[in-house]
Amino acid sequence: MSVKLNCEYLKPFVSERELDAIAPLVSAAHKTLADRNGPGNDFLGWVDLPVNYDKEEFARIKAAAEKIKKTCDVLIVIGIGGSYLGARAVIEALRSSLYNNLKKDTPDIYYVGNSINPAYLNDILAICEGKDICVNVISKSGTTTEPALAFRIFKKLVEDKYGKDGAKDRIFATTDKAKGTLKSLADAEGYETFVVPDDVGGRYSVLTAVGLLPIACAGIDIDKLMAGAAAAREKYAKDDGNDCYKYAALRNILYNKNKSVEMLISYDPAFAMMNEWFKQLYGESEGKDNKGIFPASAVFSTDLHSLGQFIQDGSRIMFETVLDIKKQRSDRFLEADAENLDGLNFLTNQDMSVVNLRAFQGTVLAHTEGGVPNIIIELDDVGEETMGELIYFFEKACAISGYMLGVNPFDQPGVESYKKNMFALLGKPGYEDRKAELEAKLG
Ligand code: PA5
Repeated sequence: MSVKLNCEYLKPFVSERELDAIAPLVSAAHKTLADRNGPGNDFLGWVDLPVNYDKEEFARIKAAAEKIKKTCDVLIVIGIGGSYLGARAVIEALRSSLYNNLKKDTPDIYYVGNSINPAYLNDILAICEGKDICVNVISKSGTTTEPALAFRIFKKLVEDKYGKDGAKDRIFATTDKAKGTLKSLADAEGYETFVVPDDVGGRYSVLTAVGLLPIACAGIDIDKLMAGAAAAREKYAKDDGNDCYKYAALRNILYNKNKSVEMLISYDPAFAMMNEWFKQLYGESEGKDNKGIFPASAVFSTDLHSLGQFIQDGSRIMFETVLDIKKQRSDRFLEADAENLDGLNFLTNQDMSVVNLRAFQGTVLAHTEGGVPNIIIELDDVGEETMGELIYFFEKACAISGYMLGVNPFDQPGVESYKKNMFALLGKPGYEDRKAELEAKLG
């Protein structure tokens, strides 16, 4: 098994009796999901996605990725939230957080439309100068302001450089199959389009074209990624005390003990974006109705030198979920130094991953002694199959956990509030009354 729960360090915090006591709630959540009769049940396409996906489109994704790899130096991925986090998380975890700086036969990938910051956009435009570029614009609704604005700018760049006809070969749109501004625009301009299925929400869409096209462009084997997710779908299909359901149960037990912050931890900086994907998945799914565990994250040992103090010794509000990667993407043997002037020979004659492992072990012991429950998720390696399995593990655990919490894990009503205010303040037609009201508040 490539993804496995290790509860060894939870013993002082959660008893078997507590797990038994919450089991009926897990079963109820499982039944709600399996019977497809709970809130948000029109967004359950992700459950069977690893086996029940559009095979014809999957082949087109691979063909488009080959074309992109051949024709461009830089791929611009335009999207926000679920429309870019999953792709970036998988690409960086499997290839490197330094992916763009590595020697490789795949294009550099830059992500835009995930903020409205002009300086960031200008930096990417400067990077694109003199380079061959392709664009994958991704928006399920096809109307989100951040990516739409960025796309307007990159569409012009591509058209100015390659002409309208050339742009057709370089712009790929991933959006709703029929509706939305992006779909109409893509059809009008003759771009190749890929579909975000109706029944898959943004944060659950990494295994659709949303994630798969950029991931394939980075040279990652998407067949293996899907195979890993399919294995997880089997593994976590039944209410049989599986690791995925146990993780959901543990989160709820800890939440009921006032552990209202969960920190996802890894010891590999390449997982920093995986942390971000996790935070969106759990934050948008559970943080509603004045409830939910606040999802946070850290990369160790980096953040042990910043947040480490708080985790060890500050308010006892959190638990940690630690990714324990058994085999790193690569390793480095540390040689002894004859002079040992820096006194570091005690670290040598072994792989650097062993030092990282000792840091992990020492930290788990220190943090649990400091009153921070640690859930460990062991990963055999950092490969496509394991990543597919991990993605599905977190997705299903999130759904089960959300139903246990009594929320709809598949909507995100809270995201609309800032948008309405922003549109009003920018003078979007239809928001006139709100504009006056907000301007009075701003003074
Ligand atoms: O999970 C979600 O639904 C959101 O985070 C969306 O992914 C995000 O708002 C982007 O939406 P869209 O893909 O419609 O542009």
